[in-house]
Amino acid sequence: MELHLKGRSAIIMGGSQGLGLGIARALAQEGVQPCLLARSEDKLKKAAQALTVETGITPLWHVVDFSETDSVQSCLKALQDSVPETDIIISNGGGPPLGPATTCDPALWQKEAATMLLPTMQLVSQYLPGMRQRQFGRVIMVSSTSVAEPIPNLVLSSALRSALASWGKTLAREVARDGVTVNTLLPGRFETDRIASLNKIRAEKAGIPLDEFRKQKEDGVPVGRYGQPEELGHMAAFLASPLASYITGTCIPVDGGLLHGF
Ligand SMILES: NC(=O)c1ccc[n+]([C@@H]2O[C@H](COP(=O)([O-])OP(=O)(O)OC[C@H]3O[C@@H](n4cnc5c(N)ncnc54)[C@H](OP(=O)(O)O)[C@@H]3O)[C@@H](O)[C@H]2O)c1
Repeated sequence: MELHLKGRSAIIMGGSQGLGLGIARALAQEGVQPCLLARSEDKLKKAAQALTVETGITPLWHVVDFSETDSVQSCLKALQDSVPETDIIISNGGGPPLGPATTCDPALWQKEAATMLLPTMQLVSQYLPGMRQRQFGRVIMVSSTSVAEPIPNLVLSSALRSALASWGKTLAREVARDGVTVNTLLPGRFETDRIASLNKIRAEKAGIPLDEFRKQKEDGVPVGRYGQPEELGHMAAFLASPLASYITGTCIPVDGGLLHGF
């Protein structure tokens, strides 16, 4: 299927590895010029080199820490020069720490809320006027199935992702007549560094060998395996394309059948 994405540009938050890199790869394969954002310069350079070799498209990249207000401000400013306009924004980043709802550390909630919500909102507001003027824009947010079914002991993730998805739904309606769509992806269990480190913590806590814990998690997915980041990337590439112009304000699970409800 021709996605008609050639020559478009995308800014990909958390684009140096995992799901963000999977999306960057899928977009670059369709001829989109990505700009990757993350903290580690080394990982950004490696990701950009790999994409250049694989797709022939050389990504831009910027170092930024979404948990630091000043760093986000500097990045937004730098982007005004390097990427004056963009067609696609992928909201993504590191996930918050594990934790229950029975206790509350206000400082942690404030820090994680600022990290998970504000950089996306600021980035989108910087590029939205241009998107609306050109009558084309795509905001795609990488979230989690926890928006639909909260995951035990991951309350920060479940609650804050629901807040961001709700913001996206509101935005989608405000810009629906301007060719701009806003959608949220709900990934299930994907093969990435974050999942590997969460599994390590959870296996230790449960007193189960890591391999056995991982097998249990895979068996819990109806298709019987973890997803590969590119499998989320293909959905993102479709949503980014003009072909998906009538899909907006929605949450789309990409989870191998993990969610029990619709
Ligand atoms: N993998 C899954 O199965 C799964 C399922 C549901 C939801 N999710 C969520 O999807 C998102 C991506 O997951 P992933 O598995 O791809 O994670 P990952 O492999 O840890 O990748 C996270 C990306 O975000 C960047 N990043 C992390 N913290 C950052 C910060 N403070 N400022 C700027 N960049 C930052 C990382 O680069 P640097 O470390 O260099 O900054 C990296 O590029 C996470 O929020 C995760 O919770 C993942």
